[in-house]
Amino acid sequence: MSAAGGEVALGILISGRGSNMQALIAACADPAYPARVAVVIANNPDAAGLVTAREAGIDTAVIDHHAYTDRAAFEAALDRALDAAGVELVCLAGFMRVLGADFVERRAGRIINIHPSLLPDYKGLHTHARALADGRRRAGCSVHFVTAGLDDGPVIAQESVPILPGDTPEILAARILPVEHRLYPAAVAQVAAKIIEARPGISKL
Ligand code: GRF
Repeated sequence: MSAAGGEVALGILISGRGSNMQALIAACADPAYPARVAVVIANNPDAAGLVTAREAGIDTAVIDHHAYTDRAAFEAALDRALDAAGVELVCLAGFMRVLGADFVERRAGRIINIHPSLLPDYKGLHTHARALADGRRRAGCSVHFVTAGLDDGPVIAQESVPILPGDTPEILAARILPVEHRLYPAAVAQVAAKIIEARPGISKL
């Protein structure tokens, strides 16, 4: 249900561990939070996050990209599953497929992602290793709207952490991950509040 004034229905897309998904599920447990998780969808049938979601009583689906002849067919199946669950805001959480322009444009402003770098720096993979190799002093994470360009859309929220002597990509990732788990639910709440405001029929009394 996405009745005017009600919580925003989230569809979370994952490919693996799902710790950011878990942070969103935890945030949604607070009745004051403006969103709820309608469905968790994985493109990878072995994604550990599927088990976590099911244990939390969340509806899950697997849409395995290997089962489709091309990206358009895969994305059409994704779209159908999101629509069937009444999803208003798609949250990518460690989702390792690039989404095509048609999919993204159909849900413009309604797809967000968390990326473990201070965007626009270090789009794509291996962000921590690249920041270390460049001798950067700070790293971090960003929540951004998803557009057709990889990790390219407008940033909604961003937070940095120091890079310390002796850091490895693993150590740095472990320093950033708890920040992701705080930043993503906060950013989703911001976007969800705007979606609620934009719903037709909300009277501003
Ligand atoms: C996170 O670092 C996220 O920023 C990136 O992929 C990782 C996914 O971790 N996009 P998890 O599946 O949320 O635990």
